Amino acid sequence: MFRIDRNLTADELDKALRADVAEGLTARPKRLPPKWFYDERGSGLFEDITRLPEYYPTRSERSILEARADEIAVAAGAVALIELGSGAGVKTRLLLDAMRRQGDLVRFVPVDVSGEFLESSARPVVDDYPGLYVHAVVGDFEHHLGLLPVSESGCQLLAVLGSTIGNQEPGPRAAFLKDIHGVLHPGDSLLLGADLVKDPARLVAAYDDAQGVTAEFNRNVLSVINRRLGGDFDPAAFEHRAVWNAECEWIEMRLRARTDQRVRVADLDLEVDFAAGEEMRTEISAKFRKEGLTAELDAAGFDLTHWWTDPAGDFALSLATA
Ligand code: AVJ
Repeated sequence: MFRIDRNLTADELDKALRADVAEGLTARPKRLPPKWFYDERGSGLFEDITRLPEYYPTRSERSILEARADEIAVAAGAVALIELGSGAGVKTRLLLDAMRRQGDLVRFVPVDVSGEFLESSARPVVDDYPGLYVHAVVGDFEHHLGLLPVSESGCQLLAVLGSTIGNQEPGPRAAFLKDIHGVLHPGDSLLLGADLVKDPARLVAAYDDAQGVTAEFNRNVLSVINRRLGGDFDPAAFEHRAVWNAECEWIEMRLRARTDQRVRVADLDLEVDFAAGEEMRTEISAKFRKEGLTAELDAAGFDLTHWWTDPAGDFALSLATA
């Protein structure tokens, strides 16, 4: 059975985009939140990124799941898999397969801001897992966690894969982990994928690939603003930058204006000036260490029980109990 709950209308998404862009373009320094990268083209470019030789996180996390999915399923003993920022792709299926082998799986709850994405990626899961109840939820999981269908009987496994958590700064991240803890019951589990601190040269290469795919992905947010808010950004007038912030231990993606320029965003009645060389931050991608993440989970009320990495120690999957 397939059901889809819509907690987020196109109208609400539109409002959120307007508010984010108005705020970000008038802030100093200017910034844009990464969630607007993912229109159809942006999602496609991200798919391309996951296959780049420099971008190891997707492959590393998949290899951990291939080796550990059964251990995860046994440790979680869950009747339901809830996935925030759902792929319903290879990684999700590794988990579903293992949970099914383990015996208790009855429900899969993929959560994403895009209803179209859920329709195309999550609906087919029903055919591949006969008897599984796929209850998709359209929502912004930073704001709508309270609306998640969390059943009262049987344990849940809630997964946040892909180092998605790295997009948040420490304050909001702590609040997010607490919110997750708040919707789970004692004995439920959290499976968290986290990219690890490593040689800055490799990190920078992962976010500034030789083929320029990440640069296109970064500049695409300007096209999103042009299309959805009547902007007149010239994406080619901005240079992609990926910078390792050693103090905060995160990668920052920025767009640097190549020249002095004025940009209009008609739907916001906004004119914004960029000086040549001015940089606007478009994403942070935090990198983690075991001690730090254990402490963050602990502060949110979780008990870290398992920590798995790929053989190279590039990426970690952690399992924690609520
Ligand atoms: C999807 C947020 C995990 O931070 O590595 C990839 C997004 N940005 N290349 C990441 C991304 C540039 C990705 N996350």
